Amino acid sequence: MKILHVTDTHIVPEGETLHALDPAERLEAVLSHARGHHADADLMVLTGDLTDRGDAASYARLKRMLGDLPFPVRLLLGNHDNRESFCAAFPDEPRDDGGFVQSLMEIPGTDDRLLFLDTNQTGLNGGRFCETRRDWLRRTLAAAADSPVTVFLHHPPVDHVMAHFDNIGLTDRQALMEILRAHPGGIRHIFFGHIHIPLTGTLAGGIGYTAGRGPAHQFRQDFGNPAPDWIVGRPNYAVILLEPESVSCYGVDTIEAELAATTTPCAGP
Ligand SMILES: [Fe+2]
Repeated sequence: MKILHVTDTHIVPEGETLHALDPAERLEAVLSHARGHHADADLMVLTGDLTDRGDAASYARLKRMLGDLPFPVRLLLGNHDNRESFCAAFPDEPRDDGGFVQSLMEIPGTDDRLLFLDTNQTGLNGGRFCETRRDWLRRTLAAAADSPVTVFLHHPPVDHVMAHFDNIGLTDRQALMEILRAHPGGIRHIFFGHIHIPLTGTLAGGIGYTAGRGPAHQFRQDFGNPAPDWIVGRPNYAVILLEPESVSCYGVDTIEAELAATTTPCAGP
């Protein structure tokens, strides 16, 4: 299965910019590249901060941009999003019985499941995974029996060294991870956004995780600085290959890159 991971798109209304950039123009670079190179993808997942202010105009703009893609799209919420405005713009996006934008997706022909979680909490920059959401997750994973699960969410459920995020992390990450670790089918990988830098790692017990940077503004990798600069970088996304024996993630960060030299096929050996 091929999944395209895009995060932190931070769309603003038409005519506006954000940190001197046009987030829609940068997302369009990603979508154009994905159409041209990965039209065979099975799914595109956007892991939150879909819009910068959670306003209706920005969601409407995002909806127009995603309207003609050759693969289905799954949308998650980040701290910059507004659940009410989002649900008004995307009424068909799956929600749980408590109204949270989270769901479990079956993959036809396999035992694998994709788990999409909602860590948005109105009024907070940090994330929450409250008891109501945890209850849904316990019930959902119990019903998934022994199926291996790949997780997508906005806030990192893992520790990292970016000081800027010390006070805006996922408050309930330990409780969330306890539930995930207890899943009999195992967690194959966890994909998230929020930190606007590339990060990959492995937790004790072997659960791997990967953060996307996102096509919009990105952080300078100044780990201990609580106020690192925003930088331009290049619009980027990731191609996830979810195979029976492996999960691999290719960062596509070459969009709009300047040419250094052309190459020819290597004859080997
Ligand atoms: Fe963000």
